Amino acid sequence: MTSKDKFFMKLALQEASKGGIAVYPNPRVGAVVVSDGKVVSSGYHKTFGSPHAEFNALHNIDKNISNATLYVTLEPCNHHGKTGPCMDLIDPKVINRVVIGSRDPNPLASGGLELLKQKNIDVEIDICADESRQLNRRFFTFYENKRPYIILKIASTMDGFIAEDNGHSKWITNVDSRDSVHELRSSCDAILVGRKTIEKDNPSLTSHGKGKDPKIIIIDKQNRIKKSASVFKNDPIIFSGDRLTNDPHVNIKYILDTLFQNNIQSLMVEGGGITFSHFIDSKFFDELHVYYAPKLIGSGLPLYHGRKSLVDNLELKIHKVQRFKNDIKIIYYKN
Ligand SMILES: NC(=O)c1ccc[n+]([C@@H]2O[C@H](COP(=O)([O-])OP(=O)(O)OC[C@H]3O[C@@H](n4cnc5c(N)ncnc54)[C@H](OP(=O)(O)O)[C@@H]3O)[C@@H](O)[C@H]2O)c1
Repeated sequence: MTSKDKFFMKLALQEASKGGIAVYPNPRVGAVVVSDGKVVSSGYHKTFGSPHAEFNALHNIDKNISNATLYVTLEPCNHHGKTGPCMDLIDPKVINRVVIGSRDPNPLASGGLELLKQKNIDVEIDICADESRQLNRRFFTFYENKRPYIILKIASTMDGFIAEDNGHSKWITNVDSRDSVHELRSSCDAILVGRKTIEKDNPSLTSHGKGKDPKIIIIDKQNRIKKSASVFKNDPIIFSGDRLTNDPHVNIKYILDTLFQNNIQSLMVEGGGITFSHFIDSKFFDELHVYYAPKLIGSGLPLYHGRKSLVDNLELKIHKVQRFKNDIKIIYYKN
């Protein structure tokens, strides 16, 4: 690896980051072609089902160049999906070196690296791998951990309550905060809540027109929720009955395994406090989104139901702080 490799890979990462939510459930990928030390072409994956970054970077280049290097943020794919294998686009007469950000964790798509070597192309791997993985956190978590990427979201008063004593929680946060929650919902494949949230709030759990609606998942061991609840308009998946044990953590593992089998790549957990606490204690989560509203109510339902001491480390680091008028949102990443 040379310092130039890092430089050009960062350009490829910039390309990749142009691909937004529209590429989902594919990863965001960027590519740059360099010949004689100059960028001669670049491209990125724009929308799910459209040509991959490699195609966009390679299809227009001058075929008379040789000894060029292709920088690509993810291992070129080696399978027929919505498009043909990117491997077939890499002509060793034109490209004699490929520098890759990180390997593709999807077993269906990987294998490109070995084929490149068979074509006698020099290959460098893991250049800016952390940045490449960071860009596609949901995708990597899904394939490597064999579970959805999990975002826990909760809205709290300044004194740590998520509802009044009687369960009333409308509304803790302001309209702008709630709009941002609807947007977040639309970016997730599924949304999960506990039984009592349905019973107390009768929420729709949709994205309120901000985008696609997530699949609704409810934990209700004894099938107590009435079929008249609003969520039933959207055909929710209910986890109930004998498949659930008395151990909430075992249940979470079972639910996540089932969601993985059903290709749910991202899951938003929206409470309430009991459900949220089980996820925190099970350590099955990747991001924690806490909305703090400038309200004090003195008593109510707590954000967290478990028992920990001040020396217990939740291993959270602040990723982003956002402001919605007088509400504050903190996004924590789990290390
Ligand atoms: N401020 C916020 O962000 C927010 C968000 C959502 C809800 N809320 C408020 O929170 C209140 C409801 O929350 P809550 O804490 O009382 O209850 P909850 O978390 O909504 O529901 C808890 C119930 O769900 C089931 N459950 C959850 N996780 C389970 C697991 N791993 N295994 C088995 N069963 C599981 C259990 O049902 P069974 O008892 O049937 O076994 C459990 O008693 C409402 O007042 C609502 O307004 C606030």
